[in-house]
Amino acid sequence: MVILACADASQAWTRRWDNINYSWVDVAIAVTDMLAAATAEGLGSCWVAAFDPVRRRLQLPPHLYPVALVTLGYPPTPLIHEDKPRKPQTELFEYRG
Ligand SMILES: Cc1cc2nc3c(=O)[nH]c(=O)nc-3n(C[C@H](O)[C@H](O)[C@H](O)COP(=O)(O)O)c2cc1C
Repeated sequence: MVILACADASQAWTRRWDNINYSWVDVAIAVTDMLAAATAEGLGSCWVAAFDPVRRRLQLPPHLYPVALVTLGYPPTPLIHEDKPRKPQTELFEYRG
């Protein structure tokens, strides 16, 4: 299955002081939750940003902007994320007092 998650700026909050529309953030949060739920169900997933050809093919209305294309499927072997090398947290977070 492939899910194309789109932002609709007209439905999202816009921060007044710099006019930033949060529709992309909203979609990113929803997609992140979607991936976590898929993982909990034993599904494999991939967040794909290279979706221009799909946008053309689906002929999306102009008010919908595609943010993420999510592929979902059952992996041939169960996913064991702990085996993958990960950056240490010290490389990802910076604390300032
Ligand atoms: C914003 C974003 C866009 C991405 N776009 C692509 C993409 O176009 N093609 C692709 O193969 N992986 C893409 N990825 C990477 C995969 O979705 C995934 O994050 C990566 O394979 C690491 O997976 P893992 O955390 O399970 O190891 C993207 C990831 C993010 C966060």
